[in-house]
Amino acid sequence: MEEKNYILKIYRGTPGDQYWEEFELPRWEGETVICGLMEIQKSPVNRQGKRVEPVVWEQGCLEEVCGSCSMLVNGYPRQSCTALIENYIRDTGSNVVTLAPFTKFPLIRDLMIDRSQMFESLKEVHGWIETEGSREMGFGPLVSQGEQEVMYSLATCMTCGCCTEGCPQMNKKSEFVGPATISQARLFNAHPTGKMQRKDRLRPLMEEGGISECGNSQNCVEVCPKNIPLTDSIAVIGREVTLQSFRDLFTFSD
Ligand code: SF4
Ligand code: SF4
Ligand code: FES
Repeated sequence: MEEKNYILKIYRGTPGDQYWEEFELPRWEGETVICGLMEIQKSPVNRQGKRVEPVVWEQGCLEEVCGSCSMLVNGYPRQSCTALIENYIRDTGSNVVTLAPFTKFPLIRDLMIDRSQMFESLKEVHGWIETEGSREMGFGPLVSQGEQEVMYSLATCMTCGCCTEGCPQMNKKSEFVGPATISQARLFNAHPTGKMQRKDRLRPLMEEGGISECGNSQNCVEVCPKNIPLTDSIAVIGREVTLQSFRDLFTFSD
């Protein structure tokens, strides 16, 4: 192997038929994992010199905004579009970088997974704000700068799935909606217009798969690439869910 080369070792294949395959690639400064995958796509020849099927992965924005390129890089969940090869080689002292698909989502092929469950969970908790008729209602109440800062941080979620991958409570059989969905419920409940539908977000979170499934291990907040305060969101929504359950019990008005 040439001194300036490195190896991308990829866990690839289809459900039930996964295997490791290695590709030797030239190294250059500023190269990301996706650059390496594009090199393979141009000439999909493995380390044994055999021409193979091009590796499949997903990408969109290439600037850590869409979340679609997320995978395990050296076993850690992150976005491959911003993962620099040189950092991994420097940090591990090895010129082998491993790539694998997330394990908590259905596998499509190679590094591509199906994140639909996250979008379905958002639907379950009414993860949007009703704007119908709001134009005629004029300006809503002012949002303080402190509230705006918290909401901005929550709004940077890109549904990338890193927190799902890191959460010990998430598995293929689990109904848990997961930390990202809980945090989005907090975001929309904090909005002056969104508040009007807060019970539609809180009630599903009282049921199986809701907030009580969280084991408070805090892995989610460790792995979130946007540093979203997920455990704060879980605590805030936990309190809101408790209040909503009292409202429902005593049939207080909203
Ligand atoms: S909360 Fe963070 S880790 Fe989870 S999906 Fe959103 S951006 Fe990704
Ligand atoms: S704090 Fe809750 S949601 Fe976050 S990783 Fe732990 S169990 Fe999962
Ligand atoms: S391609 Fe959009 S986050 Fe990487």
